[in-house]
Amino acid sequence: MKNLKHILIPFLFLIYTNCATHTPRTEVTKSLVKKDFLVIGHRGTGDNTIAPENTMSAFKFALKNNAAFELDTMFSKTGELVVIHDSDVDRTTTGKGMVDALTLNELKALDAGIKFSPKFKNEKIPTLEEVIDEFKGKTIIDIEIKSQASGEEAKKIGEAVAKLIKEKKAEKDVFVTSFNPFVLEKIKEVNPNVIRGQLYSDFSDVPQLSFLTKYILRNLKLNFKARPDILAPNFKLVDKDYVEKYHELGYKIYPWTVNDEKDIERLIEAGVDGIISDRADLVNQVYLKLKK
Ligand code: G3P
Ligand code: CA
Repeated sequence: MKNLKHILIPFLFLIYTNCATHTPRTEVTKSLVKKDFLVIGHRGTGDNTIAPENTMSAFKFALKNNAAFELDTMFSKTGELVVIHDSDVDRTTTGKGMVDALTLNELKALDAGIKFSPKFKNEKIPTLEEVIDEFKGKTIIDIEIKSQASGEEAKKIGEAVAKLIKEKKAEKDVFVTSFNPFVLEKIKEVNPNVIRGQLYSDFSDVPQLSFLTKYILRNLKLNFKARPDILAPNFKLVDKDYVEKYHELGYKIYPWTVNDEKDIERLIEAGVDGIISDRADLVNQVYLKLKK
């Protein structure tokens, strides 16, 4: 009986992981990202000393730096998708409280710029719709969906983002990333044309995943239902071997959040397809220097 268990468990594990393999859609991703190397301003800024994160000013700055940008989105109390990183408004705005406990009107009444600098007084928390309307066709937007939920709760936000992208016909302007594979799963179900990126470090930030799922995601970097096209790992996990291995499988690789010149250089030399950084200007400079 004990022996049977030893044979059965690895056997079931093999079946499960084999089911999990898929081919990322390299051609589809190429039609979105035409550049050989994508510089992605983290939380929009492209330089977090220049403009407050996740604001229109930050996104404009990334655009000026010829960069794509990343943003964070979650639901307000009234169900709109708003653009903010933390689950509360305390750090970045003049308000207090959880984002999902405040209505859109209450969120819009807050100042999202003044704490960063008086120069940005009256900057508002944008909605995802406003950002897409303003930047669609001008640069690529990496929409990170923040959600620690599983099941129906996770599906709701995936569905809302997928629907908004469809409504705005923005499939060729954005890709969606999340640490939460359930959210990506729903994106695929509602709008399979959307490019999906699995963000990850060690998945400790997704407590709802089972040990086995975390193990598979850590080792195979995918979810058989979410079928990501992009891997967005913590940059410390990436080296030349990593890049070779996952390029062979067809993934684009966009590590985060890389701000140090030496790290930027190391990752470009390792062959990553882009970098998520607070220093889009520096990433541009290093890339140009190395490609000369
Ligand atoms: O896009 C990756 C990166 O943004 C994840 O970390 O906490 O800045 O959203 P965080
Ligand atoms: Ca983010």
